[in-house]
Amino acid sequence: MKIAVSTGGGDCPGLNAMIRAVVKTARLKYGDEVYGIRDSFNGLMDRPLDVFPLNLEDVSEILDRGGTILGTTNAGDPFKPGCDKSKNVVDAYKELGFDAIIVIGGDGTQTIANKFVNQGLNIIGIPKTIDNDLAATDISIGFNTAVDVVTDALGRLRSTAESHQRVMVLEVMGRDAGHIALHAGIAGGANTVLIPEIPFDYDAVIKKMNYRKGLGRYYSIVVVAEGAYEKGAKAIYLEDSAITQSNSKNLGGIGTRVARELHERTGMETRISVLGHMQRGGTPSPIDRVLGSVFGSRAVDLVHQKKFGVVVGWRKGDLIETPYSKVADISQPLQLDSPYIRTAESIGICLGR
Ligand code: F6P
Repeated sequence: MKIAVSTGGGDCPGLNAMIRAVVKTARLKYGDEVYGIRDSFNGLMDRPLDVFPLNLEDVSEILDRGGTILGTTNAGDPFKPGCDKSKNVVDAYKELGFDAIIVIGGDGTQTIANKFVNQGLNIIGIPKTIDNDLAATDISIGFNTAVDVVTDALGRLRSTAESHQRVMVLEVMGRDAGHIALHAGIAGGANTVLIPEIPFDYDAVIKKMNYRKGLGRYYSIVVVAEGAYEKGAKAIYLEDSAITQSNSKNLGGIGTRVARELHERTGMETRISVLGHMQRGGTPSPIDRVLGSVFGSRAVDLVHQKKFGVVVGWRKGDLIETPYSKVADISQPLQLDSPYIRTAESIGICLGR
């Protein structure tokens, strides 16, 4: 078979492990031809097409490399109103004689892929995003590494917070979901974790700080998800959206707001750190390498079973596939009755309520 593979949306650690598994499974198990499409669907949108063969030697030594050897973008929508190039993509797919495209992407990319599924292209989706907010799976590629990075940062912040008796606020990614913040907050011993799923109340955060003072602990570690917001307010976006160049404005700034408010309301010295894209770069964790390998390999098996129009996922300890129609454009935030939220509050983490 002739299989194409692409990576779309924000990059994350584990993409190369997945591409490697696609190529290895396709070449070694089935003897297929594999082609990489440059920068998501962009490689099929304009002439000359940017599509290149992927052989075993092209994927050697990439298992532990961050980023994606195929390139990616979160700014190239083939269905963009007023500049619709979707027909170019369909024409190129047919012209090149692909049997299927394996689309590795987050919600934006999979929503686009779903439109191509509806136009008859044979597509298998693989979920990736550090945010872990995709309905197709309990865990997406990149999330585990991001949690590792944030957990490491929290350990570093605690020692300096303790020395100076400061409130350290750490703003982390995750868009409208608090998965990264809550997981890392639990793993890194945060005192307060503010997540978009629970609009927060400053009084609750200050109560927690005062409780700690009563125990003789004059410092606090506060993790703030970038999409978190105060009760009655709205999420905050980066003011200079021009620097983002993507289709949507990026969240950012709530950490600074929280640090300032806590200082003004308590007089305590506060500092803000924003981890930003460090959460998305660098070496993938072993779990992301394994998951990437499992998803990549499974996607090729599904191509051979001709089970198209589905997104691969991981649920209750096993692989699943879900039809695109049930997952495209649907996000999966933290459930309020999730064991993570219950655990956090049981062990004394303040969630701002
Ligand atoms: O969706 C992944 C993510 O890293 C979000 O957590 C963050 O809000 C956004 O992407 C940043 O996107 P960009 O790639 O435009 O900087």
